[in-house]
Amino acid sequence: MCGIVGYVGRAPVVEALLDALGRLEYRGYDSAGVAVLNSQGLEVRKRVGKIRELAATLRRRPITGHLGVGHSRWATHGEPTERNAHPHVDCTGKLAVVHNGIIENYGPLKERLIAKGHKFASQTDTEVIVHLVEEFAKRHPIPEAFRLALKELRGSYAVCLIAEQDAKRLFGAKNGSPLIVGIGQHESFFASDVPAILSRTRRVVYLNDLEVVELTAEGPKLTTLEGKPVRRNPTTVDWDITAARKGGYPHFMLKEIHEQPEAIEQTLFNRLDPAKGRIVFDRRSKRFLDGLSPSEQFIIIACGTAYHAGLVGEYMLEELARVPVDVDLASEFRYRGASLNRHTTVIAVTQSGETADTLAGIRLAKAQGAKVLAVCNVMGSSIAREADAVLYTHAGPEIAVASTKAYTSQVTALALLTLYLAKQRRHVPPAQWRKLVDGLASLPRLIDQALASEPAVKAIAAKYAAARNFYYLGRRYNFPSALEGALKLKEVCPVIHAEGYAAGEMKHGPISLIRKGWPVVFVATASPVYEKVISNIEEVRARKGECIVIASEGDAAIKRHADSLITVPRTEEFLSPVVVAVPLQLFAYYVADANGADIDQPPNLAKSVTVE
Ligand code: M6R
Repeated sequence: MCGIVGYVGRAPVVEALLDALGRLEYRGYDSAGVAVLNSQGLEVRKRVGKIRELAATLRRRPITGHLGVGHSRWATHGEPTERNAHPHVDCTGKLAVVHNGIIENYGPLKERLIAKGHKFASQTDTEVIVHLVEEFAKRHPIPEAFRLALKELRGSYAVCLIAEQDAKRLFGAKNGSPLIVGIGQHESFFASDVPAILSRTRRVVYLNDLEVVELTAEGPKLTTLEGKPVRRNPTTVDWDITAARKGGYPHFMLKEIHEQPEAIEQTLFNRLDPAKGRIVFDRRSKRFLDGLSPSEQFIIIACGTAYHAGLVGEYMLEELARVPVDVDLASEFRYRGASLNRHTTVIAVTQSGETADTLAGIRLAKAQGAKVLAVCNVMGSSIAREADAVLYTHAGPEIAVASTKAYTSQVTALALLTLYLAKQRRHVPPAQWRKLVDGLASLPRLIDQALASEPAVKAIAAKYAAARNFYYLGRRYNFPSALEGALKLKEVCPVIHAEGYAAGEMKHGPISLIRKGWPVVFVATASPVYEKVISNIEEVRARKGECIVIASEGDAAIKRHADSLITVPRTEEFLSPVVVAVPLQLFAYYVADANGADIDQPPNLAKSVTVE
């Protein structure tokens, strides 16, 4: 999500780093920084905001040199501030690291390091890495200290280190997060992503997990974490810059659909403790939630896809936490004259945190004495700043206009909230609680499995790509899935009209249009209303409509009800909208692609709707 770059060579390092960081700007970020080694020692510059602002700082306070690292940060753990921006330095100011990923055991590591006298300057998990290296460097040379530090880390990382004690080379390593080496003419690079270096070289070494690199201007030396040499020849990248930005995917939307296992992992990180069966929130959110009255009234407000996530939240919160919930489109909420008071909590669900109607909704709520909890993806956004507490979704930057990973991470965050309130209010018996928690913990894996349906979904999309009208139907938790599936399709393929309904509503009007070949996407996963959905399917088939059915794996009986069948892994019903979202998104994507649509930037749509 964030961008890493490193340079060693003959060119002025700051120019090389800024150029590479600029080429990663499309990924989104909120702060940036560089660290350079030169005859003065280690020098660091950081700025909140754009790379051009960092460049302005570097013009005012220049640094020269030929070796350094840079980073653009998209805040996940810790606000977007200069302190939290990378590079992070150790207590002596002689070591600096940049890092992508999550260090899962940073809490205990930090405590241990503080006990040894280390002083921490940021709220990030990253900072433990540089202090760990500092600690080991008291007794070992830098390459060994780096490897020993890496061995202590649990979680994912792409990390680059520079050290005054070993000032002729850069160090890098990866586990789970991407890091590549670029080899140029008497210059070498680290980068988290190929586009950063494509203008300078196409010769790239792709690193494997748990490999360590010592990098000089003449190229990399690879070893294992144990220090055993690794041989790897460079490959030549033949992507153009546009393809490279999309990580090899033809569109950002497809890339982001595939990022969902990682995005959900980030949403759950540090919050779900399946071993202890606990949900843990940051101090501010915990204080907020623990202070709610037993008779608190919840109103979820949101727009578009976020509204659909809110509808799923309503089902979860009412059924499992037994709290009363209303869900409103933010554009309606702000004008409907709702009467709120200090026992009302408005939950604003928003990817961008800037949507004008949602923002106006929370201002109105606060003016009436209500409390505001935001479920938001962008740290430091207007809604995140104005809310009383924020559950960040941590899905990473979403670039395609059509929301995919932001949606599933919103539903996941609402699931966390639901389980927290359910436990607090003792509404779930222990045996059921275990199942719910285990279900939530397995979501990233289940989404990964759901992505395996891609070839089947693509084939089905090809079959229906010429249709111009679609219905989407579902019940209970998957009524919002039907709305979201239809929105996704009409959004990315604007030549198609798609409408989502609660399946039980079909007989009250929409059925009048069903005729031979009319495609209807049904969500018929395992649920207490499964039989009722089957009846709705048969009503469509009786009128010769075509049923594209999304069902749970292992449902042998469904085959005879479906013209086209897509299966998804079984899960607890309250989490099924997350798993079901994957084939719905893929279906919209491939139908749009077959129609030659401008998938990432559909006409008339903007990523962030900041006007009413
Ligand atoms: O940034 P927000 O989540 O507040 O945005 C809300 C909607 O504008 C957004 O979900 C929109 O509907 C998406 N384009 C849907 O894919």
